Amino acid sequence: MNKAIAIVNLIAILFFLDNFNSHAQNLSNNADSLDRKWWKEAIVYQIYPRSFKDSDGDGVGDLKGIISKLDYIKSLGINAIWLNPIYSSPNDDNGYDVSDYRNIMKDFGTMADFDSLLSGMHQRGIKFVMDLVVNHSSDEHDWFKQSRSSRTNPYRDYYHWWNAEDGKPPYRYSLFDVNNDAWMYDSTTNAYYLHYFSRKQPDLNWENPKLREEVYNIMKFWADKGVDGFRLDAFGFAAKDTTFPQFPKGFEKHFSLYYSMQGNLHGYLQQMNKEVLSKYDVMSVAEGTGNTLEDAHNMVDANRHELNMAYPFEGIDLAKPEGYELIHFKEVFSKWDSTFEQSGWLGVFLANHDQARMVSRFGNDSPAFREHSSEMLTTFVLTMRGTPFYYNGDELGMTNIRFNKIEDYRDVQTLNAYQHEKNIGGDTIAYIKRKAFESRDNGRTPFQWDNITNAGFTTGTPWIKANPNYTTINEKQQDKDPNSILNYFKKIVQLRKNNLVLVYGKYTLLDKDNPDAYAYTRELNGAKFLIMLNFRSKTSTVNIVFDLSKAKLLSDNYTAHSTGNVLQPYEAVVYQLQ
Ligand code: NOJ
Repeated sequence: MNKAIAIVNLIAILFFLDNFNSHAQNLSNNADSLDRKWWKEAIVYQIYPRSFKDSDGDGVGDLKGIISKLDYIKSLGINAIWLNPIYSSPNDDNGYDVSDYRNIMKDFGTMADFDSLLSGMHQRGIKFVMDLVVNHSSDEHDWFKQSRSSRTNPYRDYYHWWNAEDGKPPYRYSLFDVNNDAWMYDSTTNAYYLHYFSRKQPDLNWENPKLREEVYNIMKFWADKGVDGFRLDAFGFAAKDTTFPQFPKGFEKHFSLYYSMQGNLHGYLQQMNKEVLSKYDVMSVAEGTGNTLEDAHNMVDANRHELNMAYPFEGIDLAKPEGYELIHFKEVFSKWDSTFEQSGWLGVFLANHDQARMVSRFGNDSPAFREHSSEMLTTFVLTMRGTPFYYNGDELGMTNIRFNKIEDYRDVQTLNAYQHEKNIGGDTIAYIKRKAFESRDNGRTPFQWDNITNAGFTTGTPWIKANPNYTTINEKQQDKDPNSILNYFKKIVQLRKNNLVLVYGKYTLLDKDNPDAYAYTRELNGAKFLIMLNFRSKTSTVNIVFDLSKAKLLSDNYTAHSTGNVLQPYEAVVYQLQ
């Protein structure tokens, strides 16, 4: 054997041993006691289809656009996708107002496009989680058209009506209505209909068994097509006391207490489980968790046969324009972890389509710190117990666009609340300032593929402006740079995928009173990982007892690593302790 071949062989042996070691570690992590499920081990990448990639130049993202980017998505290493709604819709609320649950929105393409998207995902080993919007439909859905046509129509009871001759209905708060009034008068039948969201999103009547049957059939239609899961939009609000009692004055300040987890909601979930979920290998996650930890737990306790995963908002709601307290942030995430330590399962996230950008809310999007703080937050999401839900564009460190005039906004919530502010003579300037931090449109600007016009998202005029920083923040440039946020994301995804300890391992908070850094361990069957995250733009010291000289550094978002327990600004390190 000549020298060159010997070296190649040696490299091959070392490579084999390295793989063998990580395989062995996986096996050692793989205790029989683990209730392993694909959806617990999944890393869910959320795609906002309207803003991801436009294939036909109409300025709106579409399914063919997503298909054209499947190899990119696969290259991230993620193994599940949650798509925001893609059903037919007049788009009052970007698809959250469905007019036909068995068809695809025209802007997005056709059912044939959907079928190829789904098979393209499956070929790449990626599961598909579908958004199911059944607390309400569109007012343009045939059910509603029938329902509003006469008081005796068979679809009348698919929605909630209050006859006007009985006087004004007891006040209900609407999240998106210009007047915040959830009852809309409809002269056709001289009655009011209920809409917790916009006027074009009438609430469905879950107390009607026929409606429930319709929804289960819709779910079966998609499950038979091969979708792998459902995310239940606003489902906590679905059950209602249809006698519509008066709520106390000012209830709207805590409307969730009156809207969420009411009546027979758990009964409906159990029925849905029996009729649909239990019959397929699908995962299920509801938006929100009710009002108490017990509500959340009850929804996902496997023995109750309801849903698989809770998706709590308490953590994501902490970010405010004036900042947030890290100690509180740690308390909240630790509390949710412990709630599901013994049973049930959790989703972990710091962003979605209803929020402004992760780095702008929880990190620091100034040029000096954007990259490190994005990576640090990403490390957090991917090293906690629970299934990570990661929002598209965060892997590039996309930032808030901070529109300074109302005309730039597209979101029904932002626009209607502005109108409301104006109607009551409120401070619209302060409103616009606040929205620059918190409007959902910050998270909905086009995905930044390239440094060409409109970030390479469309050849036409985008439905919402692209963030001008696409010239420097874009996928093409980051793909080439081994130290980019994008390439960091890919590495940390692999770290989670290769180490079950990061999925199932026990979480223990360390140095809990440290106001600047977040540190914790994850432990499973002898494997012990230490994660240390600096949430500040200055050096921070973590108070820990481990001897790091013997630990193995698995990941660091700085190329010049820190030593020991002193972290550089927004540094994120993962060690394996010996
Ligand atoms: C929650 C969804 O995430 C949000 O985008 C939507 O506006 C409301 N539900 C109403 O469907």
